[in-house]
Amino acid sequence: MQSSFDKTPLLFKQVCVIGLGLIGASLAQAIKDNGLSERLVAVDRHVPSVDEAIKHGLLDAGSTRLTDVVAGSDLLIIAVPVQAVQAVFTDIKAAMDNGQLATDCIITDVCSTKVNIIEAAKSVFAALPTGFVPAHPIAGAENSGYHARRANLFVNHSVIICELATTSSSAIAKLQQLWEAVGATVMPMAADHHDAILAHTSHLPHLLAFNLVEQLASHDDNLDMFRYAAGGFRDFTRIAASDPKMWHDIFFANERAIISALDEYGVYLQTMRQLIIDKDSTALMGLLGRAQAARRHFGHMLASTPYTDTSAMSASYNITPSNTVSGTITIPGDKSISHRSIMLGSLATGVTNVTGFLEGEDALATLQAFRDMGVSIEGPDKGRLTIHGVGMNGLKPSKTPLYMGNSGTSMRLLAGILAAQSFDSVLTGDTSLNKRPMERVAAPLRDMGAVIQSTGHDGTAPLSITGRDTVGQPLQGVEYDMPVASAQVKSCLLLAGLWANGTTTVIQPEVSRDHTERMLSAFGYPVTVDGNRVSIEGGGTLTGGDIAVPADISSAAFFMVAAAISQGSELTLTQVGINPTRTGIIDILKLMNADISLSNETHVGGEPVADITIRSSNLQGIDIPEYLVPLAIDEFPVLFIAASCAQGRTVLTGAKELRVKESDRIAVMADGLQTLGIDCTVTEDGLIIEGKGIEGKGSNADSNEVNNSQPVFGGGHITSHHDHRIAMSFAVASLRASKPITIEGVETVNTSFPGFAELANQVGMSIEVHDSRA
Ligand code: S3P
Repeated sequence: MQSSFDKTPLLFKQVCVIGLGLIGASLAQAIKDNGLSERLVAVDRHVPSVDEAIKHGLLDAGSTRLTDVVAGSDLLIIAVPVQAVQAVFTDIKAAMDNGQLATDCIITDVCSTKVNIIEAAKSVFAALPTGFVPAHPIAGAENSGYHARRANLFVNHSVIICELATTSSSAIAKLQQLWEAVGATVMPMAADHHDAILAHTSHLPHLLAFNLVEQLASHDDNLDMFRYAAGGFRDFTRIAASDPKMWHDIFFANERAIISALDEYGVYLQTMRQLIIDKDSTALMGLLGRAQAARRHFGHMLASTPYTDTSAMSASYNITPSNTVSGTITIPGDKSISHRSIMLGSLATGVTNVTGFLEGEDALATLQAFRDMGVSIEGPDKGRLTIHGVGMNGLKPSKTPLYMGNSGTSMRLLAGILAAQSFDSVLTGDTSLNKRPMERVAAPLRDMGAVIQSTGHDGTAPLSITGRDTVGQPLQGVEYDMPVASAQVKSCLLLAGLWANGTTTVIQPEVSRDHTERMLSAFGYPVTVDGNRVSIEGGGTLTGGDIAVPADISSAAFFMVAAAISQGSELTLTQVGINPTRTGIIDILKLMNADISLSNETHVGGEPVADITIRSSNLQGIDIPEYLVPLAIDEFPVLFIAASCAQGRTVLTGAKELRVKESDRIAVMADGLQTLGIDCTVTEDGLIIEGKGIEGKGSNADSNEVNNSQPVFGGGHITSHHDHRIAMSFAVASLRASKPITIEGVETVNTSFPGFAELANQVGMSIEVHDSRA
């Protein structure tokens, strides 16, 4: 077999595997396939397994007795049932005493319990050998025995290593090398902690699976029970097909931790039983919803990946050029308002019903965080949510760090809320979010008396927040002069101000989106706005109600530009939010001569909305007024596409903030534009783009004729840098491209615009979503 890790050097002279069950034989096979040892020998009580392994060429020698084969080994791997380990230690000691083994020989095991293994070693050896390293690969399968072995069993699995005070560091390092060479990730852990964790995550589920099968099997009508047992039973009890002897041993070996896990389980079971008896629908829904979301959440959190659809990781768009779009479409809900609906709905008294909620990963991160803090939230179901508010002092500490995924808004706004809570919290995010600046909220929160640390490398997340119970006093209102026009910073401080003594005032250098202010007012909390000064008094309450989230103008922007740059196009986008603090995109496109009109203007849940119709336009390059920058802060990537199609130069200044969004949007867009043949120059705080105009050349076409627009972009490969808006912007470019465009890393589109490609195809674009992991 070809080694998959063939750069690994030979690590051992002779490895001796004691026990050729699933784990022992799989590890032996992995060692063999990866060429990690000069010789491989094994001991097993079952003669046919040993004979077969020799016949297969897996082993150089094998026996039923250790002393026959062990001489010269520099690694012993004990892979026998837990309760047989002590006898193996006795054999190993005898081999050492006979001079068959060097004293620094590494001795490890693969058993599922650790404290009792160490105890067993202590009872055999007068002093624990320096080469003794207890370990446990968290890998396995319900199949057991030599025949079930798989060399790749450990790939992408974790191996826990217990570093004892007596163990030499070279033995630990060497064993780590071995596990990494067979594809595993090594984690150090204290033995008692290991046993407690495994009791909950492995031993208890196995015990319950065996128990449920036993329960069904002992019914009189068991045949019928099994005949009609559906997927749930099959899935839940898969692990009850595991080796009974092994589990028998483990249950006794880890008795104390398992009994405590079982007792805790009993309490939870009783709670659920009582909720059913009491017909407590709200609490039961809360519990089930929390559990369902947590189940999904843990997977993402451990992998540091986005929330929904992990299968879409490493996805790309393959786009065939098209040249026109038309139709009437509805864009998904506003991301900023969706976040805030969860936050204020959770803190309110009473029930809040939300419609039009954006089921994108960013807003789902906020949703999960509040569930983690004990809020009962039903949904989302087609954009509908029911939030059972817990009141201003009803949040509970989360048992785990709050995971914000890719969402800067979740992290920064939550930092404000959490800085005021009685309990401690930790906020973390995915790799991209953990690189974004957090001191912009942490520093002013500290001015209010918050105890908050940005524990990342450079003022970045994870954020660690100390609760007010520990600090001993509430936050203090301050007047804060914001250096950047950031709605996230403003909102963070206003939210913290809800609990602060006195008045919290934020002064913004330019107007930024005001959804927090509007929604606070809608929940009955007074906010004073005086020009660029926004103030709030601490100590009030919020009252739950209904929130209708309008369509997101930031998502609509992709379709506005799509229609404006392509020929013979006309798109109507229904009931889009046109809050004046968000309409910079409309103002800028109008300055560029775009044909945009608004109709059916009305108000939905305190926010103005309208249908937006946009047609093919003879766009002109402009100098973008700086006051419009905060009002179109998220729309610049797609505006750069518009500028490339405009006649003449477009100059953006005063937009340094773009460098600290989900990616450095100035650098990343410039790279992509240049790949597609656009002449552009990066400046410190903006970008200069030489537009190619209707004729695709940059000539001085002065007619308003837009039905003969020529390509302005070539084809090519674009990297989104895992930034949703970069990916969608370059997809729009395909409407004026001469050749296909491939965009790598589009899975993050789900953060703000699930269904983007489908909607784009519906209006006439041609995007094929390719998932390299499918
Ligand atoms: C947002 C504010 C903006 C924006 C982000 C959402 C919000 O960030 O870029 O997508 O919901 O408050 P800044 O306030 O940091 O500019």
